[in-house]
Amino acid sequence: MSVEQTPAREFTFHPCDHEAIAALTYAEAGILLPSSKAPLIYSRLARRVRARGMTSFGAYVALLEDDAAERTRAIDALTTNHTSFFREGHHFEHFLSDVWPTLASRLASGGSCRVWSAACSSGEEPYTLAMAILGRNRGAAARLAKKDFRMLATDLSSEILATARSGRYAADTVRSIPADLRESWLDRSEDGTMTMCAEIRPLVTFRALNLLEDWPMRQLFDAIFCRNVMIYFDDTTKARLQTRLADQLAPGGMLYIGHSERLDAAVADRFTCVGRTTFRKIGR
Ligand SMILES: C[S@@+](CC[C@H](N)C(=O)[O-])C[C@H]1O[C@@H](n2cnc3c(N)ncnc32)[C@H](O)[C@@H]1O
Repeated sequence: MSVEQTPAREFTFHPCDHEAIAALTYAEAGILLPSSKAPLIYSRLARRVRARGMTSFGAYVALLEDDAAERTRAIDALTTNHTSFFREGHHFEHFLSDVWPTLASRLASGGSCRVWSAACSSGEEPYTLAMAILGRNRGAAARLAKKDFRMLATDLSSEILATARSGRYAADTVRSIPADLRESWLDRSEDGTMTMCAEIRPLVTFRALNLLEDWPMRQLFDAIFCRNVMIYFDDTTKARLQTRLADQLAPGGMLYIGHSERLDAAVADRFTCVGRTTFRKIGR
């Protein structure tokens, strides 16, 4: 009979440490970390425990109580930033066929267009939208930049936003971009990485924003992509966030949510479902 052995851990990590870290992450970011996430907490925070010269999670938890910068780093480390170019491509197809024509003609006649990628991670989502809008023509980026078009992209994690702003991705990461768009909008560096070109990057404004905190934006958005972040939240947080997203959308504006996310009953009657996880705010 073989006896399975748990590999020895470098640091002690007790259930009370897990509880303290989960409470902090919930309070600051709304992210739930149930007991099934203990291995994730250990693996993501062990390097922080080591970097701070601690010998146990208990000591690190005590440090977190007094050190706001370390709390930010810990929450950064605990966020899941998985994303990809053209993820859930039906949303971009819908935007292009059903939403963009009206917005483009509004821009052409001197009007404005506001789009928000909320919880944009490393930037693949807003850059995908920009490429989808522009097609293959680099000149189109300069023309759009002259219009009253703004694409805001926000995330809680400053670390991941640094990647987003750089627009620099591993060759593997950009494989999901159709070849013609990849050739049009990405430049290859000597080290093999690919960078979103200088024409497209200024079209996206990246900002740090915790979706649970106050939002500084005054304008209403024509479309909000808020995808694959609410899965980490409980029902109360989801309902509150969706109510605020609805408030922040112009009448007739679009809300795109992640494939496993649902609209809460608190806001369902403010939207019409017009496609898979695709909702139009009622009103004109
Ligand atoms: C899985 S990624 C989703 C990225 C992209 N929207 C997509 O669908 O591919 C989730 C992102 O949500 C961010 N996030 C988690 N909690 C947040 C909060 N309270 N406020 C803002 N962003 C948050 C994380 O930092 C992470 O980058």
